[in-house]
Order: sequence, then structure tokens, then C-alpha cells
Amino acid sequence: MSVPGLGWVSKFTKPVFQQSPKTLAIPMDLHLSARKKVVDLLHSRGVMNGIALVKGGQQESQYDSDMEPPFRQDSWFNYLFGVKEPEFYGVISITTGKTTLFMPRLPDEYLVWCGQIFPPVHFKQMYGVDDVQYVDTLGDFLRQEFSSEPESAKLHLMEGKNSDSGLFATPARFDGDEEFQSRVDTSALYHAVSTARVTKSAHEIEAMRYSAYVASNAHVEVMRTTSAGMFEYECEAKFLYEIYKNGGCRKAAYTSICGCGPNAATLHYGHAGAPNLRHLQPNDIGLFDMGADYHGYVSDITCSFPVSGKFTEDQALIFNAVLSAQRAVTALARPGVTWVDCHRAAERAILTVLTEGGLLTGNVDEMIDAVLGPTFFPHGLGHLIGCDTHDVGGYLSGTPEREVRPGLKNLRTARALEPNMVLTNEPGCYFVDYLLDKALANPEQSKFINQEVLARFRGFGGVRLEDVVVVTENGFENLTTCPRTIEEIESVMAGGAWPPAVDKAPELKRNWTTLGPDGECMVPLAIPRG
Ligand code: GLY
Ligand code: MN
Ligand code: MN
Repeated sequence: MSVPGLGWVSKFTKPVFQQSPKTLAIPMDLHLSARKKVVDLLHSRGVMNGIALVKGGQQESQYDSDMEPPFRQDSWFNYLFGVKEPEFYGVISITTGKTTLFMPRLPDEYLVWCGQIFPPVHFKQMYGVDDVQYVDTLGDFLRQEFSSEPESAKLHLMEGKNSDSGLFATPARFDGDEEFQSRVDTSALYHAVSTARVTKSAHEIEAMRYSAYVASNAHVEVMRTTSAGMFEYECEAKFLYEIYKNGGCRKAAYTSICGCGPNAATLHYGHAGAPNLRHLQPNDIGLFDMGADYHGYVSDITCSFPVSGKFTEDQALIFNAVLSAQRAVTALARPGVTWVDCHRAAERAILTVLTEGGLLTGNVDEMIDAVLGPTFFPHGLGHLIGCDTHDVGGYLSGTPEREVRPGLKNLRTARALEPNMVLTNEPGCYFVDYLLDKALANPEQSKFINQEVLARFRGFGGVRLEDVVVVTENGFENLTTCPRTIEEIESVMAGGAWPPAVDKAPELKRNWTTLGPDGECMVPLAIPRG
């Protein structure tokens, strides 16, 4: 299909997003199914008619320039419509499911500065919706639609607070909306779309598999090329290059965290005040938390490895504590198990290995009762992930509430696992002076700490291992394809192939053929270089 505006001819007869013929094709059916899921949820809650109206993201401007920062579509809007451009609105009839997009009417000047102006039919073809009209006709459209709806039919708008950021999704506004104020209802749509986003469709899982695959390959390249003498930001630059060059991911999922040496203990290092500037030292542990964004579907992956390419005994101890936590979670996970219990299993595994390694001493159950776990593992085990890195729906009304206990209170959901949830499994073990000093000042906790051994770990940094996993009927399917054991990492850093052999990593042989809208291959699979 030739879509005007794309620089190449797509071979698919149904609309897809594809950055280039070298990257994954994502059928617009993904968004059609998402809309159907939301409408079905509304119906199941007794909302049988009316209209859902959602506003897309706005393009930001730089104050002192006429250039614009790269636009990222609002995640709600991306989920429902897959639209790339800013300033759109989307309307879904809750009665019929019919979808109409509303696009901005661009000024002629746009032709000079930004290029071709496409008509509504272009976007109708591109996004596979029922109709596309201009935003300045939205009021007329709604008046017409409501004329064939019952008097009680509502205009359903998004409104809700994000349990992670504390930010609000606010109801869509548009010129002339006063006329519809008496119909506005914000009680149902946010909950329905949030609920829909908690479990992923097969198309969404495929998008996330690709995002995780691209990011995993980029992590492997960072692992291969990191050495003492480099700066942390060079590792970040390598990752960003790889996800764009080899995966078509123009955006990262979030600001890259490339904490080496002591910086590895700062959970969200890499921000503007600490922008990945350390000069890597031979004995540093490196913690690299970096993810990709493809068509608004993100990955969130952390690898930790020694800058030297060879684990010291102390580095191996902490690494294996975290690996054992990740594995304990994988062993426990299945539908019905709560994320709180998964976190507890990870915490127990870390304390157990630290005890075996001589850093702690005593009974692990008693350590847990004394709340020693968060001293070393202060964050939550992981979070839902999808169109947002910390995806929505963690604490919706009607789901388990946030725990109050340290460690558990940082969990971004307390829900029981359900098939097709996608989460991160990301335990970590860190040496944060502030937390260590607090524990040492508390006799109930300090009695378990071998202070002589602990002294060796001051300034060590930390280790986090983070995989993107899908909940299946039996447990987890891991979408992350990075080296995970000490042997695998040392082999890759010494120049070994990854994957070492396809029969040892059959998941990497996948050919992505299952979900093409025309039943054909959706992306040429490049096995990472050996
Ligand atoms: N990259 C942020 C997180 O792991 O949640
Ligand atoms: Mn992360
Ligand atoms: Mn994460």
C-alpha cells in the first residue's frame, strides 16, 4: 500500500505503522481492538450509549526557537488510535463503535516550513478509522451524533489521577464545548481505558516483544564495547544509536541511567543534575537501565556488569543475590499470585544470598520481620509496562491498595497477576550510605549486619537486573534477550557470540511471522552479531 507521505511503498494491504521495511510492522488493528475492548468494558458496566471523546497530545515549542522538541503522542491517545501527529481528537461512538478522528486545519505557511499538508482521506487510510474530519467541525459532528442518541446519552471524557506521577488526565476541551457541558460524564471512561491497558492483546505483546528485542540487542552492544576510560554518556550514546539505527526507535523510553561505580546505587541516576558523566574506572560495576520506544510501546531493561569484563568476588556475590531474586520471582509467578508476594520472594532471596556471602548474619525470617530488606532493596520489584514505562492501572479503584511497609509501599501495583499483563521483574541490591547508616543506627537491624564485611561495600554502587515479562497461563514469558548469568556476560564481554548458539536460545530464532495483517513476515530478524 502506498501511503502518501511515507518514503516507501508498504507491501501490506491493511494499514500498518512501520518505521521502514527493516522494522516491525504494527497493524492498526491493534488500536481497533483496543477501542473495541474499551467499548465492551463500558457496555459491561451499563454504559450502552453516548460518545467517548479523547484529545491527543499537543506539540510543545521551545521558547527561544521556532523548532519543536520531538513529539511523543499522549499514551492514552496512542493506545486508542495510534496517531503520530499532534493536535488530533478522537471520537468513539459507544453505541456503534464507529471511530472518527479530528485533525487540525493547518495554515498554508505549513507548506513552507513543514512540508505537504495531507487531506483527511490520507489519515483515514493511514489509521484505518471510519472517518477523519477537521477539528473545527467537531461541535457540529457531536450535535449531529447526539441528535440520534437518547436524551440521557453522555459525552464521556477522560479524568483521573495517575498513581505513579500524581499527574492528572484532564477532560478534553475544544472550541464551543460549552454547548455540551450538560452531557459531560467523567465517571466511566478513565477507569475503562485504564482497565483495558492493564492486560495486553497479542498485537501489543508483539510490539513490546520488538521493543524489548531492539533494546536487548542495544544493551548487548553496550556490554561489548564498554571499558575503563570511557565516560558513562558514551554508553548512553551507543545505546541510543543502536536502537535507532537497528530498530527504527527514534525515542528512548526514558532518560538513560548509566550509573558506574558508586553512581550505580542512585536509582534514577542520569537526570539533568547527574547526567552520566563519570569516567569509568577498572573496578567499577556498571548499571545500565535503558529502554526503547517503538510506536509508543516501550521496553525497560537493566543490565549490570563489571567494567573490566571480569567479576570480582564481591561483584559476583551482589550480582548473584539479584539474579537469585529475579529467578525466585520467575519461579513463583503465575496468575493469581500477588505482586506483593513476588516482591517478598525477591527480598528474601537477596537477604539469603547476602547471609550466605557473610555480609549479613542470623536468621532471614527475623531480618524480614526487622524490615532489613529495604536497606539493600529499597524500591518496588517492578511495574506494569506498555504505552508508558510505568503503565497505568496499578492502583485502580476496586484493586488492592498500596501497602504501607517500607519497600512494599514503593510497589507500583499490589494486584494479583493476570494472563497478558506485561511487567518488569527488576530486583536490585544497592549500597546507599544514607540507608546503611540508618540501619546501623537501629539496633534491631544492625545486629544482622557484619560491619567489617559491609565496610568493603561502601562505595560499591549496586546491581539491578530488569526484564520485561508477560504473564502466561503458567508463569512468565521473558521478552528480554540479554545475557543474564555471570558466565554469559563474561563471555560476551570477551568477544563471544550472543546468542552463543541458536539451540541454546531458541526464542531468538523467532521470525515474527505470526501477526502480519496479510499473514506475512513483519520484520526481517537480525540475529545479534557474534
Ligand atoms: N527505568 C525506570 C524503572 O526501572 O522503573
Ligand atoms: Mn528500568
Ligand atoms: Mn522499571
